[in-house]
Parts: sequence; C-alpha cells; structure tokens
Amino acid sequence: MISTQQLSATIEAIAVPGKGILAADESTSTITKRFQSINVESTEENRRIYRSLLCTTPNIQDYINGVILYEETLGQKTDQGQLIPLTLEKNHIVPGIKVDKGLVDFQNSTEEKVTQGLDDLDARMNAYKQQHARFAKWRVVFSISSSLPTQAVINANAESLAKYAAICQKNGIVPIVEPEVLMEGSHTLLRCHEVTSAVLKTVFETLPKHGVILDYIILKPNMVVPGKECADQRNPEAIATATLDVLKTYVPAAVPTINFLSGGQSAVDATINLNAINSQGKQPWLLSYSYGRALQDPCLKAWKGNLENINAAQKELFKRAKLNSLASLGKYNVSMENEG
Ligand code: 13P
Repeated sequence: MISTQQLSATIEAIAVPGKGILAADESTSTITKRFQSINVESTEENRRIYRSLLCTTPNIQDYINGVILYEETLGQKTDQGQLIPLTLEKNHIVPGIKVDKGLVDFQNSTEEKVTQGLDDLDARMNAYKQQHARFAKWRVVFSISSSLPTQAVINANAESLAKYAAICQKNGIVPIVEPEVLMEGSHTLLRCHEVTSAVLKTVFETLPKHGVILDYIILKPNMVVPGKECADQRNPEAIATATLDVLKTYVPAAVPTINFLSGGQSAVDATINLNAINSQGKQPWLLSYSYGRALQDPCLKAWKGNLENINAAQKELFKRAKLNSLASLGKYNVSMENEG
C-alpha cells in the first residue's frame, strides 16, 4: 500500500512553474571526464568542492527547486561545514539521489544497453531517505541506428524503469523516470520522433502494470532532435513541434511535470529549444528542465578547479538557471544571453 502523503508533498515542492532541477549526479567516471576537460584531478575533495559550489550558489533557489546528487555527495559537507543535502533543504531545494548503477550490455549486444541496480534497491532506499533524499533518478538509454533500438531492449528498459519507480513510491520517494534516446549519430529529426514514440509508448504501457501512480512521477525525456551528425539540424520550432507531438500522444495528463535532459545540446541550444517548446500554448503538464551539462558547462569552465574562481563559476550557474527558468515560461529571448 502506497502512502501518498510524502509523494504528494514532494511533487508539490518540485512541480512549480518557473523552477527546475539541476542534475549534479554524474557518476565518478563521468565527473572524472568532465574534470579532465578543465585539467582538474577527480579527487573526492575536488568533487566535494565543486558540488558544494553548485549547491551553495547564492539565490539559486529562485530557479532550482531540486538537485539530483550522486551517492558520495549525500555524505559530503559544504565549505561551511553543513551536509550538502541539509544545505539544500534549508534553501527550500529538494535533495534527490541517482539510484541506478549504470549500464551493462543487453544480452549479446555490445550496442544496446540496459540499466543495472535493481537487486538491492529496496534496501538502499531507507538509507537514502535517512540522508534526506526525497526523490530519485533511474536512467535508461537507447542508441539510434537504422535497425536499433530493438523492441526487446525497449521492453527490458521499460520494465526496469517501472520496477524502480514502484520501489521508490512504496518508500515514499518520487521517481524521476528517465528514458533517454541519445543524440549520437546522423539520424534525422523524424527518426528520433519514431524512436522516442516507441520508447514512451512502451514506458507508459509498462508503468501501470507495476502499480506506479503517474501523479507522483517526474518524467525526464530527451527532446526530439536530429542526431548530432545529421546535416539537417532543423529550427527550434520544428524541434518543439516534434517533441510536443510525441508527448501529447504518449504521456498521460496525470503526469504532473516533464523535466527534460539536455543530452549534449549546447547550453544555449537547450534553453532556446525549451523556450520554443513552452511557446506553443498551454499543455497538460509543466515543461521544465533537469539539465546536467546545459546548466553546468559554463560554470565548470569558469571554475577551472581554482578557489578564486568560485564566485565567477556560481554566477555562470545562476545565469543558466535564470535563463532556463524564463524558457520554461516561454519568456526567454536569445538577446538575454548578453545582458548582465
Ligand atoms: P544532461 O542534461 O547533461 O543530459 O544530464 C542530465 C542527466 O541527468 C543525464 O542522466
């Protein structure tokens, strides 16, 4: 029996117009790659300094009301000596936790992946709750080629998302359901539309079979975009139309909020496209952001691992959060990039 009180309070705190989620839950191997790009060693202390910088950005709560953390960060402290999740809570930002344990090959394929981490998930939930996490994230991924993804991998990943979401809700934790169709490749916008449709169709057929209550999930999908190497990159209006077409077809109105991933779009493109999506009239769900790279990249570049750059780095994060907030309301204009 699910107690909906905690789930409903968390949804109320997160599904707020003009606010969104910061994804700061990179696994150690992923954050190591990000740090390599700025020549910073990925030590536990450097990761603490960086995540503390993100979570203590002055006034970030004006635009960010949830932060997805990596397990290590739940136990780390800010430079002021307070646990990072507690600092977030104090600023009315809901702490969340990435609970999947990454990708493994699907059956005999080296190209298709499934997500692992279900085995001990129920047991881990209690500890995460003790550490103040109130929502969770589980990511599955799909590569596009002329023959992929197979329906078999779509089914397997939808099953794991549904089982994870059911375990979360049973424990009073709101699940972020993240089926990501990757941007790598030369496929067209139309092909991304086709694959995202197949994925969301299966996901929303599977969630109810496991008793997941759609009113208490956050959907984190990709936007429908052409592959990075596709010659025809299309304009933001075409991306918005294709994205909304898929969402309107497959995502029930019971879902309160859809918070997109950025998936390798540039920081500015992710904002432009979110604004275009929110410029096509009112939809049944909120359409906001749960960006990792698109919120963090300019901040990471400004920081460069240097204590003296912390203020400048926080200003970059604040700027992206503010502009994405405006985009989630359809009130952004690219000329704002040069203001202030
Ligand atoms: P990006 O916005 O960088 O795609 O990251 C979002 C995320 O949480 C991926 O799981």
